[in-house]
Amino acid sequence: MYCVRNVTEDLYWVGANDRRLTLFENIHPIPKGVSYNAYLLMDESTVLFDTVDWSACRQLLENLYHVLGDRPLDYLVVNHMEPDHGASVEEILLRWPDVKVISTEKSFMLMRQFGFEIDGHELIEVVEGDTYSFGKHEVMFVGAPMVHWPEAMVTFDTTNGVLFSADAFGSFIALDGKLFADEVNFDRDWIDEARRYLTNIVGKYGPHVQLLLGKAAPILDKIKYICPLHGPVWRKDLGYFIDKYDKWSRYEPEEQGVMIVYASMYGNTESAANALATRLCEKGMTNVVMYDVSNTHVSYLISESFRLSHIVLASVTYNLGIYPVMHDYLMDMKALNLQNRTFAIVENGSWACESGDLMQKFVDEELKNMTVLNERLSMSSALKGDKETELDALADAIIESMKVEK
Ligand code: FEO
Repeated sequence: MYCVRNVTEDLYWVGANDRRLTLFENIHPIPKGVSYNAYLLMDESTVLFDTVDWSACRQLLENLYHVLGDRPLDYLVVNHMEPDHGASVEEILLRWPDVKVISTEKSFMLMRQFGFEIDGHELIEVVEGDTYSFGKHEVMFVGAPMVHWPEAMVTFDTTNGVLFSADAFGSFIALDGKLFADEVNFDRDWIDEARRYLTNIVGKYGPHVQLLLGKAAPILDKIKYICPLHGPVWRKDLGYFIDKYDKWSRYEPEEQGVMIVYASMYGNTESAANALATRLCEKGMTNVVMYDVSNTHVSYLISESFRLSHIVLASVTYNLGIYPVMHDYLMDMKALNLQNRTFAIVENGSWACESGDLMQKFVDEELKNMTVLNERLSMSSALKGDKETELDALADAIIESMKVEK
């Protein structure tokens, strides 16, 4: 059955939802699914903006046949060639061999690399600032390299203010009939998954997102709709989401708050983490969250690390090193370029306690623009009453550093 919705009078969402995929990019859990958005413009020419993952191709085709009726598909604009969007390009060429494909040089290169038989079809290569008219609608193509692959571009419809933003402004979570961000409670139900999507998929490329935001800045008042390749379409309160993107891509925390990530083998480091969290709350800092690094997928840890200003690393020593999953978390932070956070360290070891020094060294030497508080909580096997003063001092130091930041 077809499943489409109007975005504007002559623009249709013709994408698909995927609730069967367990891991996005075969790495990030998506318990609430994901949508692959594609859009069909019914102008004097018919224009498809992007396709969908191969697993959703049949839904795309049903949607296209339904909206097109007996009209042919005249153009296919490929803003992003990662296979979650580009995998169905070849099928489109098979069904509509006369379709003209508009994309960037690198995108056509990727199509060939993936083995698509595109040569023999009409390919229109565009560069930054090129415009194209489909009848009533004129569009402009704007490069968006590394948001999220090097070939990416966005397309701006200057006639009605629709920005086809590729991966930018996307989110995990499948659409349940509600297409627009103003039809859901985004701040309650979607923001965490939008942040987890952006920070884990494009987090490394903050400067490139900033570049794209810079290109959008002069025409912000002309952007009426943001149509991303995942998640809902934005037509109201665009500034709310643009501001989030600005913060995430500048690696600025959204909130003053403390994230305690603990690695505990037998519950003793966890017990110390509990004691620290309680102390912080008693002292008035209640924006505290705790995560067991062993049973929280690192994509959630990364998302929370982008949200909050302070991170407490509490780790047992393991094989004279950092607990392996804590080390993985740190490596992900490095890979995704997280910056501008304040760290506190809690270390544990039954003999030869090394984790504190090693975590400090990692933060100091491998991450950028980070601060590690001098106060450190150290324990041998378990935290006992004689460490009250150190526990207090660490909680005080965390809270004090927030005052300095303000
Ligand atoms: Fe949703 Fe970079 O693909």
